[in-house]
Amino acid sequence: MKAESAKVPDYTWRLASRALVLGREEVHVWRADLDQLSSEADNHRLNLAADEQARADRFYFQKDRDHFIVARGVLRAILGIYLNRTPQSLAFDYNSHGKPALALPTHDDDIRFNISHSHGVALYAVTRGRELGIDVERIRRDLEVAEIAGRFFSRREVAVLRALPTDSQRTAFFLGWTRKEAYIKARGDGLSIPLDQFDVSLTPGEPAPLLSTRPDSSEAARWSLYNLVVSPDFAAALAVEGQGCALSFWQWPEPAGK
Ligand SMILES: CC(C)(COP(=O)(O)OP(=O)(O)OC[C@H]1O[C@@H](n2cnc3c(N)ncnc32)[C@H](O)[C@@H]1OP(=O)(O)O)[C@@H](O)C(=O)NCCC(=O)NCCS
Repeated sequence: MKAESAKVPDYTWRLASRALVLGREEVHVWRADLDQLSSEADNHRLNLAADEQARADRFYFQKDRDHFIVARGVLRAILGIYLNRTPQSLAFDYNSHGKPALALPTHDDDIRFNISHSHGVALYAVTRGRELGIDVERIRRDLEVAEIAGRFFSRREVAVLRALPTDSQRTAFFLGWTRKEAYIKARGDGLSIPLDQFDVSLTPGEPAPLLSTRPDSSEAARWSLYNLVVSPDFAAALAVEGQGCALSFWQWPEPAGK
C-alpha cells in the first residue's frame, strides 16, 4: 500500500451543495449523525426497497431499526445527488459476502460506495470506477485490546502494539482495527481474508498507514489507505483502489434550500 506522503487531506467537514461534482480521481467522504436524524426515519423508510424494510423490521430495538433506516435512507439520498436520481429509484445488488453496490446500469457514472456506522455515526465513501472500503469504530473503553489484538492482528502489528506505552495502546488498537476493516471492506470478501496476512500501521497522524500483504506482496501496491479524522472518540479509515485520489469531507444533511 503506497504512502500518500505528499498530500495530507484537509479534514474539514464541509456543508455540500447540489452542485457537488465528483471527479474520477476523487473520493467524497460523508458523515451523518444517525441519532440526530432518527426523527426522519419514517420518511426515509418510504424510500427503502422491500428487502431493506424487511431487514429494518428484524431489529429488536427501535433505536437500531431507526439507525439502519436512516443510514440507508441517507445513502440513497447521497447517491441520488451524484446520479441525479431520486433516492427511491435506486436499487442495490450484493456480492456473496454482502457488500452492496448500485444495481442500475452504471457504465456512464460507475459510482462506487461503501458505508460504515458505529454508535450513531455513519460514514459514506463515494467514488467512480474503483473499489473502496470505509470503517468507523467508537474507541471503546471496555475492551481488552491487547487480548483481542493477540487473536486478530498480525504478528508485526501485535509487536508494534505491545511496544507502545499502555495509555497509547487503546487508540492504536482502534486505528489498526479500522484500517484492517477498511481494507477488508474494499476487497469485499469479508472475513475470508485472513486478518493476520496483512499489516497496517497503528500510529496516529499519518496520512497513509503502511500496509504489507502476504503471500502476494504486490497486492499492497494496489491500494491506498487513509486515516480519517472524525472526532476524538472515534477511529476511522478508508481504503481505495489505486493511488493519488483527492479526498474531501462532507457533512450530511445538505444545507436547507440548496
Ligand atoms: C460485514 C462486515 C463489513 C461488517 O463490518 P462492521 O464493522 O460490523 O460494520 P460496518 O458498519 O463497518 O459496515 C457495515 C456495512 O458495510 C457494508 N457491507 C456489508 N458487507 C460488506 C462486505 N463484505 N464488504 C464491504 N462492505 C460490506 C454494508 O453497507 C453494511 O451496512 P448496511 O448493511 O447497514 O448498509 C465485515 O467486515 C465483518 O463482519 N467484520 C467483522 C469485524 C471483525 O472481526 N473485524 C476484525 C478487524 S481486526
